Amino acid sequence: MGKGIILYTSKYGATKKYADWLTEETGFDCMKTADTKIKDMECYDTIVLCGGIYASGIAGLSFFRKSHKAFNNKKLAILCVGASPFEEKAFCEMKAHNLKEDLKDIPVFYGRGAWDEEKMSWKDRTLCNMLKKAIAKKDPDTYEPWMKALMSAVDKTCDWTDKEYLEPLLDYIR
Ligand SMILES: Cc1cc2nc3c(=O)[nH]c(=O)nc-3n(C[C@H](O)[C@H](O)[C@H](O)COP(=O)(O)O)c2cc1C
Repeated sequence: MGKGIILYTSKYGATKKYADWLTEETGFDCMKTADTKIKDMECYDTIVLCGGIYASGIAGLSFFRKSHKAFNNKKLAILCVGASPFEEKAFCEMKAHNLKEDLKDIPVFYGRGAWDEEKMSWKDRTLCNMLKKAIAKKDPDTYEPWMKALMSAVDKTCDWTDKEYLEPLLDYIR
């Protein structure tokens, strides 16, 4: 497996939970992406970047954008963590939206996260409330998977994190 590191960006803890599970399973080092410098990565063969999904964007991805060329000979992977249940079409669209040009060949994996409005910052809660209001005006038969997930999580605390989501990523790393 070589020497590896798990990097993570997590606002509310679900992505960190996956990063911790990956660290336990692999014995790799683990750090917040924001605390990491490109030159610190020289000694690693494998880099797994874990990021929560906020408004369709994978958090922390800019680290790979800036450094991709320096990581030519390394094994790279991305784990993104969102509230939606996994759905192939939506996942492909999210990948295409986030991974363009030289990043598009990096394998991307998915873990379902959590939802707790009490934990959210005022700004995030307001954004989610605006989204909920906009979605509520639509015909439920036309909801995208993430809209269904958001509407079913209204006023609830949900935790969908599950180690099983990590199996395909662990197979890839090993
Ligand atoms: C402001 C905001 C925007 C979000 N946007 C999305 C989204 O576009 N797609 C999705 O699947 N989940 C979305 N979520 C849900 C988060 O991805 C989910 O809560 C995940 O667990 C976040 O990871 P964290 O717990 O590590 O912060 C959003 C959450 C917040 C607070």
